[in-house]
Amino acid sequence: MNFKNKIILITGAASGIGRAAAMAFAEAGGFVIASDINEKGGLETVAKIKAMGEKATFIKTNVAVFEEVKKLMNQIVEQFGRLDIAINNAGINGVLARTVDYPVDDWERVISVNASSVYYCMKTQIPIMLQQGGGTIVNTASIAGLKGLPNSIAYTASKHAVVGMTKTAAMEYARHNIRINAICPVFTISPMFDPVALEKVAKGIPDKLKANVPMKRFAKVEEQVNAMMWLCSEKASFVTGHALPVDGGLTA
Ligand SMILES: NC(=O)c1ccc[n+]([C@@H]2O[C@H](COP(=O)([O-])OP(=O)(O)OC[C@H]3O[C@@H](n4cnc5c(N)ncnc54)[C@H](O)[C@@H]3O)[C@@H](O)[C@H]2O)c1
Repeated sequence: MNFKNKIILITGAASGIGRAAAMAFAEAGGFVIASDINEKGGLETVAKIKAMGEKATFIKTNVAVFEEVKKLMNQIVEQFGRLDIAINNAGINGVLARTVDYPVDDWERVISVNASSVYYCMKTQIPIMLQQGGGTIVNTASIAGLKGLPNSIAYTASKHAVVGMTKTAAMEYARHNIRINAICPVFTISPMFDPVALEKVAKGIPDKLKANVPMKRFAKVEEQVNAMMWLCSEKASFVTGHALPVDGGLTA
């Protein structure tokens, strides 16, 4: 896929799926704006891209804070004059607890980082895309945006919100040449989901999780990125408002 000369923002680009996306979009010719709250990791991502001979820059942003998100988009317009593709991907897990025991502080943190951030991003990205005559957005949801996930009330609520916002915004701006979709990853090996570390604290759980996936394995970050890239490409020119499970058949 060719993203030559496209200006591409990726949030949560310091690690995992976001870092892999930043590297893949840059390798496909795009200019990547890697954004994250983690400056060290974000700069490492940019260094890796530059070492491949490709183009990227880092802008530190806490996507849970509306003023910071507004500043990020203003900076992009000032520096690059446009935003062709936005991958709103930053996210956190939150603690694991049953609904009754789930701490309210954690609820608020997960909702603001995973859900409010996507609203803040789309609210500030769409005007840029309207102004330039089009664009593409992919939000990272989760299979927890399509089904329940015990012990994760806040995460599940936040990812259902991402799916709902994706559909609503897609319908609102479809006629303006702006396509908005989401991907819904299953367990994907990354710093957020590390089966080796999980096995140490919860023996046997990774195997149980894997057994639930019809393909009987976890996803690789690149498999999530391939779906993002397809959704952003011209090959998906009539696809908008969808939440694509990349889940080895789990939600089938
Ligand atoms: N790994 C999985 O199994 C899995 C499954 C389903 C969905 N997802 C989703 O995929 C996305 C990426 O996850 P990952 O596995 O790469 O995790 P990760 O922890 O490796 O990466 C998440 C990135 O988001 C950044 N981030 C967190 N809070 C932020 C904030 N307030 N502002 C800016 N950046 C912030 C982190 O610093 C980190 O770099 C997340 O939205 C996650 O919910 C992951």
